[in-house]
Amino acid sequence: MKPSVVIIGAGSMGLILAEGLVRGGWRASDLQLVAHRGERATEVERLTGIPTSLDAGSAVQGRDVVVLAVKPKDIQAVCAAILPQLSTEQIVLSIAAGVPLSVYQSLLPDSPVIRSMPNTPAAVDEGMTAFCAPPGTSDQVLKRAEIVLEAMGQTIYLSEDLMDAVTAVSGSGPAYIFLLAEALTEAAIREGLPHHAAEKLVLQTIRGAGLLAQTSDKSAFRLRAEVTSPGGTTSAALHVLENSGFRTMIEDAVRAAAQRSRELGATAVALSTESE
Ligand SMILES: NC(=O)c1ccc[n+]([C@@H]2O[C@H](COP(=O)([O-])OP(=O)(O)OC[C@H]3O[C@@H](n4cnc5c(N)ncnc54)[C@H](OP(=O)(O)O)[C@@H]3O)[C@@H](O)[C@H]2O)c1
Repeated sequence: MKPSVVIIGAGSMGLILAEGLVRGGWRASDLQLVAHRGERATEVERLTGIPTSLDAGSAVQGRDVVVLAVKPKDIQAVCAAILPQLSTEQIVLSIAAGVPLSVYQSLLPDSPVIRSMPNTPAAVDEGMTAFCAPPGTSDQVLKRAEIVLEAMGQTIYLSEDLMDAVTAVSGSGPAYIFLLAEALTEAAIREGLPHHAAEKLVLQTIRGAGLLAQTSDKSAFRLRAEVTSPGGTTSAALHVLENSGFRTMIEDAVRAAAQRSRELGATAVALSTESE
């Protein structure tokens, strides 16, 4: 049976999840959104057909899964608002980047909590969400949370110490691919292709290559080797990329994102202990 869900935070990710749940077969009556401003609540309710309120405390009542989809800086206020209404059976499922489980365990000590990191391709049901939970979390809690997360695409359970790396790879990853798309489109236009053709060639190539890499039993290395004949066109291009430090740049970028995620996590912990 589908768990009933309340999503606190009706911003981009909250809406992406809400729409995914509706496409996944949830009835609007089994869903609830909570916005911060009346104007936004009206707009979101009109867009999604999901009842949207402004009062997180009363909205969580009777819901199986309580999703926290606010910015990390707002987590504390939201936890304080819902704490008096939460029962121990309700699962708190956060999608806030960088906020460690320990913060929820200190703000909501009696609730089962799950921390997750989705990404924006969830808007087209092709998201990648990694999630983690404190040791000892029951299979039933994990399964319930996963059912909700699967409304955004694929899921993977990992230990919490890997979440900064997840943030740097799949959380921020779509932006790296969009940058590649921008750069490749600009290069295509410089080679004389009209804008619409350049965009179509680039986007379908990214989609097709991703799908091929995902569905083939060959590694990315193997697939690349198969389209790279010695002295050919691909080889000429890859030579430039390798000599320009492409791999090092990707490695440095991912390291910078993971480091930033660790810093944001440390800030979240400091803020939550300050308030104790
Ligand atoms: N965007 C991504 O790619 C991505 C990926 C993975 C995870 N995340 C995480 O997802 C969370 C949401 O990100 P987002 O991009 O969706 O941000 P967003 O668009 O700014 O949405 C956050 C929403 O929360 C609302 N809000 C703030 N305080 C609230 C409160 N007390 N009660 C109810 N709603 C409240 C905000 O309303 P107002 O604007 O009216 O204040 C805003 O609509 C963040 O923690 C982020 O780290 C994002």
